[in-house]
Order: sequence, then structure tokens, then C-alpha cells
Amino acid sequence: MIKIAPSILSADFANLERDIKRVSSADWVHVDVMDGMFVPNITIGPPVVQSVRKCTDLFLDVHLMIEKPARYIEAFAKAGADLISVHLEADHPTGIAKALDIMDACGVKKAVALRPITKAEAVLPYLEQLDLVLVMTVEPGFGGQAFMEEQLEIVSQVRTLINRYNPACRLEVDGGINVHTARRVMAAGADTLVAGSSVYGAADPNQAVAELRGA
Ligand code: DX5
Ligand code: ZN
Repeated sequence: MIKIAPSILSADFANLERDIKRVSSADWVHVDVMDGMFVPNITIGPPVVQSVRKCTDLFLDVHLMIEKPARYIEAFAKAGADLISVHLEADHPTGIAKALDIMDACGVKKAVALRPITKAEAVLPYLEQLDLVLVMTVEPGFGGQAFMEEQLEIVSQVRTLINRYNPACRLEVDGGINVHTARRVMAAGADTLVAGSSVYGAADPNQAVAELRGA
């Protein structure tokens, strides 16, 4: 079953509760956390996740675009994250393993994310324990960028690895997803779609969610 995860990066941060209610037909809410180091942008931290948690029962999908993410897993878990993804490029393998262990200890679902430069095989050391792999289809940092065609190949390769080693693991894509690109990433094997500007740029965000679901 496909899951749609609107990204609140494209919402109005002064009206977050209103904008989260505007996507009530979605499955998940995607929260983009940026530290100004791993990516050249700064967004939100645990206090905002805690406030978001209070205004929705939707599953909170927290995408950490921060250096050495193990330092902050517990804080985001306590704030109410249901799933946390850490970038494989954001630390050495021991730091990534530690971040995943802390997620286990905190009882949150575990994911790793891949920047466009990263090869599909990089997920292999972790794959058997993961709930989700996130393949970026733009360079992380900003909403509203154009979908990177060449990432379709990475999506297919990750799908092959998931089917072989952990078929229950979800495959999420993030960046430039609209009805047209949604169809293509699903054909390549994605089952979870993040969408920021195509949902919040629509006159009716719930209608945009329905269109993505039917893509
Ligand atoms: C980009 C973020 C995305 C972003 C997607 O670094 O990870 O989640 O919100 O925005 P769109 O859908 O506009 O590309
Ligand atoms: Zn994201």
C-alpha cells in the first residue's frame, strides 16, 4: 500500500497546525530537520516536533539532515517522532550504527537516507534491521527543486536489495515528487512518497494527496 507523506517544509510555519490539518487525508507527516552543516539550510528542532505531535495523530516521519545524528535521536524520539531517518553521509559507520541502536532503545522506527551521490549498496550493512530506506531524488536542503531523473536507477537498485534482504522494509522517495514523477518512482519500486511543494502549492492540499495516491 502506497503511503503519502506531505513535507511541512512547504507549509506556512506560522500556521503549522492549520497546514497539517489541510493534509488530514495523508498517511504520514514528513518533517525536515536541517542543521546548516550537513545541508546549507536551517529548519526546525525537537520543540517544534513536540508541538506538531500535539496537533496530529498522523505518523511523524522525521528526516534528519544533520551531522552526527546520533546526538539527537533521543530528543526527537521523546518529542514524538514515529520514524527517524539518518543520512549515511552524515557520520562514520560506527556513528550510524549507534544512531540506529538509540532508535531501537527509544522504540522508534529506523531508516537510513541516501543523498544522490550515494550508491544503493551503501544500505547493505544496515538493511536487515531497517523499517525504511529513503532515496533522495533532489540534493537535500530545499523544497521546490527539480526531480533528478538519474535517481530512478538508484530507486530500482534499492528495491532489488530490499526484496532480497528485507521485503518488509519500505522504500521512500523525497524531492520533486508530483503526479508525473510519482508514477515513475512507483514503477521503479517506491512505496512511500514525500511531497512538499506539489501538495502545499495546490489550492486544495488534500486533493493533491488524493491525486498522488492515484498516480
Ligand atoms: C529536501 C527535503 C524534502 C522537501 C521536498 O531536502 O528533504 O522533504 O521538503 O520538497 P519538494 O517536494 O518540494 O521537492
Ligand atoms: Zn525530507
